Parts: sequence; C-alpha cells; structure tokens
Amino acid sequence: PRPILLTRHGESLDNVRGRIGGDTVLSEAGELYAKKLANFVEKRLKSERTASIWTSTLQRAILTASPIVGFPKIQWRALDEIYAGVCDGMSYEEIKRNMPEEYESREKDKLRYRYPRGESYLDVIQRSEPVIIELERQRAPVVVISHQAVLRALYAYFADRPLKEIPHIEVPLHTIIEIQMGVTGVQEKRYKLMD
Ligand code: F6P
Repeated sequence: PRPILLTRHGESLDNVRGRIGGDTVLSEAGELYAKKLANFVEKRLKSERTASIWTSTLQRAILTASPIVGFPKIQWRALDEIYAGVCDGMSYEEIKRNMPEEYESREKDKLRYRYPRGESYLDVIQRSEPVIIELERQRAPVVVISHQAVLRALYAYFADRPLKEIPHIEVPLHTIIEIQMGVTGVQEKRYKLMD
C-alpha cells in the first residue's frame, strides 16, 4: 500500500487576518509547520525509493513545501484554492455586510454557489478530477500540499463522502491526513502536528 498525504499549507498572513483567497506568505506559525511537515515527511517516506510533492501554484503552498528536500516537486494550477472572484481578499464579515445577498446564497447552497466572477465547489470538484486520476495512477507515495476547498474535494473522493457534504468536511490547518490505498480498501490516519 502506498500512502497519499494530504495537507493544507501552513498558516498564511491572510489566514491570520481572516481574509479569503489572496496569495500571501506564511505567518511564523505557518513557517514552523512547514519545518515540522518536512521532518514528518522525511521520517514517513524514508524507506520509499520514490515519492513526489505536489503543490498548488500559490506562494503559501510552495513555501510550505520548501523545507522538504530530496523529492521532486510539481506545481498544479488545479490545486489552487477556490477562486472567490470579486470577493477575493475579503473577510466573511465584509461579504456579509457589503454583499448580503451573496452571503445568503452561499449559506443556502454552498455546494452550488458560485462567487461572482469566481468559482463554486462544483467547479473545484470538476477541476480536481485530473489530479485524482494522476493520484490513482501513481505507484509511489505523494504529498499533496493544497488548500481547504480543494482538499475537501480530494478527500471526499478517497473517503467516499457524498457530494453534498463536501463543502462542510473538516480539513484543519497543521494536520496531515494520510490515506492508505490497499487491496482491502481505503484507510485513514490524521496527524495533528501543531495547533
Ligand atoms: O480561509 C481559507 C480558505 O482557504 C479561503 O482561501 C477559501 O476561500 C476558504 O478557505 C474555503 O473555505 P469555505 O468554502 O468554507 O469558505
């Protein structure tokens, strides 16, 4: 069985400020997570002959991967976070205050709601399919460093969760979700490396 390790990037400056989207760098806590993750990956994949690290094209994911050495790294646009269109860079409170109808539509149907000039969960699920196909084809372990919404989609596929649950799956920061694909099915472990 080969493991797939799923993780969000380390905490970013936008996470600290409560802003969605953007392309900021890591906070101090985020940088610490990147180091802890590198340690974990080194130990966990020590006995593997090959493995690869897949990130999104956003700084916070690339920086989270940067302390990991000795494995090839690949950047995927398809792993970039859900794009919030005109709401990119806003906080949820700002959206609620300035665009209450948008906020409500999303509350009502988070799966189908598409941000103006942005994406919906259904869009993200669809664009994550090529990544899933490649993950299925891999013989060697893969570490995926991506973002909350995209990881919800990937996780739901492997854990066989229903479509309507996807936008609500818990994918906390600073936690590794290890998926083992064996002959008897899929097994899951979670490692919380820090708060
Ligand atoms: O807040 C972090 C973040 O990754 C945002 O960039 C993104 O818009 C959001 O999470 C996705 O989560 P939700 O769909 O629950 O708003």
